[in-house]
Amino acid sequence: PDYQTILVEQRGPVTLITLNRPQALNALNSQVLAELIAALEAFDAEDTQGCAVLTGSEKAFAAGADIKEMQAMGFAEMYGTNHFGGYDRITATRKPIVAAVAGYALGGGCELAMMCDFILAADNAKFGQPEIKLAVSPGMGGSQRLARAVGKAKAMEMCLTGRMMDAEEAERSGLVSRIVPLADLVEEAVRTATTIAGMAPLAVKANKEMVDAAYETTLAQGIRFERRLFHGLFGTEDQKEGMAAFVEKRPGKWTGK
Ligand code: HXC
Repeated sequence: PDYQTILVEQRGPVTLITLNRPQALNALNSQVLAELIAALEAFDAEDTQGCAVLTGSEKAFAAGADIKEMQAMGFAEMYGTNHFGGYDRITATRKPIVAAVAGYALGGGCELAMMCDFILAADNAKFGQPEIKLAVSPGMGGSQRLARAVGKAKAMEMCLTGRMMDAEEAERSGLVSRIVPLADLVEEAVRTATTIAGMAPLAVKANKEMVDAAYETTLAQGIRFERRLFHGLFGTEDQKEGMAAFVEKRPGKWTGK
């Protein structure tokens, strides 16, 4: 497909998606959303691809939803079209997506990063929810995901003041899994995604789904969900292969069955 606002490239089993509206610091307009969803759905359906990396530029992962596009919209249009509701389709992707964040991840950019399965941050990354300065609020899940990621105190302060978090604070607070030097960010993200893509595909989906359940259920329900999926993996060929390979001291060869 011919995308105008993103670049999509396969690096072996990893799909690398790069937001590419540099003139607007990768502000997320409707076209970016439509192209991102198309690219992620294609990735999810492609058997040779096991993990995706979503990144932006060195200056900005994404500086937010496109303010110029939203400026004139009213309630009827926003609510009537469920504006930004389409982003739920990104979190419906069943294979993992690693966000590789350099520079600004603000507003919708921070929210998009948090929709991914985990965030690797370059040392120059800055995260924030500055929507309040525009007299609005997060609208793609930021108030909920940020509160779950960093706790109420930091989430509330960030949403109420628009203060940005740098990479160090984001790592300390649990928003990002690791900080990587800017120059290595994309390579390290692709390397990490390659590791994930090398695992048995059904186990990857099950692990993703059960960690996600921790955010949506009680502890008892989550543990039961984990146990059932875990039991289910013993019905796969790859479990037999994985355990045989360990015993025989060789790498496993997966069939995805
Ligand atoms: C549209 C944007 C944009 C955005 C930057 N640009 N962010 N356009 N929407 N969110 C454009 C600028 O207008 C400018 O275009 C070009 O990108 C470069 O930006 P500058 O501001 O000149 O760069 P700089 O001085 O380096 O400042 C970087 C920045 C600043 C601190 C990131 O751009 C900024 O504050 N941006 C807005 C951040 C924000 O409020 N995000 C939340 C959006 S609301 P021109 O044409 O002038 O060169 C949101 C809502 C989520 O995300 C859902 C609920 C509504």
